[in-house]
Amino acid sequence: MKKIMLVFGTRPEAIKMCPLVNELKARRGVETLVCVTGQHREMLRQVLDAFGVEPDYDLEVMSPGQTLFDLTGRVLEGMRRVLETAQPDVVLVHGDTTTTFASALACFYLGVPVGHVEAGLRTYNVKAPYPEEFNRQAVSSIAEYNFAPTALARDNLLREGKLPQSIYVTGNTAIDALGTTVVSDFDHPELRWAQGSRLVILTAHRRENWGEPLHHIFRAVRRVVEEFPDVKVLYPIHLNPLVRQAAEEELSGCERVRLIEPLDVMAFHNFLARSYMILTDSGGIQEEAPSLGKPVLVLRDVTERPEGVKAGTLRVIGTREEVIYAEFKALLTDEERYNQMSRAQNPYGDGLASQRIADILTKGRTSL
Ligand code: UD1
Ligand code: UDP
Repeated sequence: MKKIMLVFGTRPEAIKMCPLVNELKARRGVETLVCVTGQHREMLRQVLDAFGVEPDYDLEVMSPGQTLFDLTGRVLEGMRRVLETAQPDVVLVHGDTTTTFASALACFYLGVPVGHVEAGLRTYNVKAPYPEEFNRQAVSSIAEYNFAPTALARDNLLREGKLPQSIYVTGNTAIDALGTTVVSDFDHPELRWAQGSRLVILTAHRRENWGEPLHHIFRAVRRVVEEFPDVKVLYPIHLNPLVRQAAEEELSGCERVRLIEPLDVMAFHNFLARSYMILTDSGGIQEEAPSLGKPVLVLRDVTERPEGVKAGTLRVIGTREEVIYAEFKALLTDEERYNQMSRAQNPYGDGLASQRIADILTKGRTSL
């Protein structure tokens, strides 16, 4: 029987891999194994619980304030032991984190075939996002199966010389989850707090935004909120202590901005669905927002998700305080601009990506 192992370690990987885990587990004729690296601890556990996934292996690598050196070394060595014990026929990794890169590298060293879920995203700038652009390019040079979410991602891979028969356009598994999480009767104390106001969701955590850029973001948010009494901001804040410290320094005492603990995925998607707009430097949220029809100001200089920009939902605005201030304000005051950005469109697939990937792995070629 074919043995497929899925490896992931952070919140976004888990959100996009758990639907595939459950899809594969429902199939006959394959053995599905789950290995988590534990690059994230609490934020990973939230997702595993939400999807009812229990890992077969947990490397438990997380340490507070971990560096890329700590992580890469621990994941590489831990994956060596797991792969030698479990001997999978194929390993699936997701996206672009250190877990993704180091796990794929361990597979390469041991000659285990790698399937890359969410393959082909590119900025072609290895410093942004950092180190993710390097990670995903490195995995592409190893992967035997490339599950590209969109035609654009496929074209990137083809241009780089990947064999056409190794690439499958599947849609993004991020959309698979959205179909089940957003419900009409969702209630939460923080949503009650925001009732009657325009709710803005803020998230920021990217490594290249640590330091000054985060301070710029938070100062701009504070200025706008202080000018608009009908706006409230919820910031489910990443557990990274560096991010927390900057946010507390700039935003504490601001009544209409609440810093809250990371939300479980069901709650977060329902918050997004009820928001007026989103400010974020996240990758995954750029995929989810277009199908919810929520305007996103992307707090980064570049994006690997141009499909959402083309769809009109995303605007990449960088991290300078004055620019964020002006763009945020414009979306609160310019109705036409707001309406143009809030049309629901979905360039990331039809919610069947996991089914398609499972079909390819168990039956052979099928593609969007
Ligand atoms: C990682 C990924 C990034 C992804 C992000 C998603 C890398 C290099 N970065 O960045 O691509 O966008 O995850 O959120 O792979 N922490 C906890 N508990 C948790 C999670 C994190 O306490 O459940 C704290 C720890 O102190 C940890 C720190 O956050 O050391 C940073 O975590 P890490 O995974 O290294 O970096 P992220 O910024 O989360
Ligand atoms: N998310 C969540 N709870 C939160 C914030 C985000 O479940 O409090 C989800 C969000 O819907 C998306 C993913 O986490 O699916 C994005 O994760 P993150 O921003 O940490 O990482 P990135 O996508 O930037 O790699």
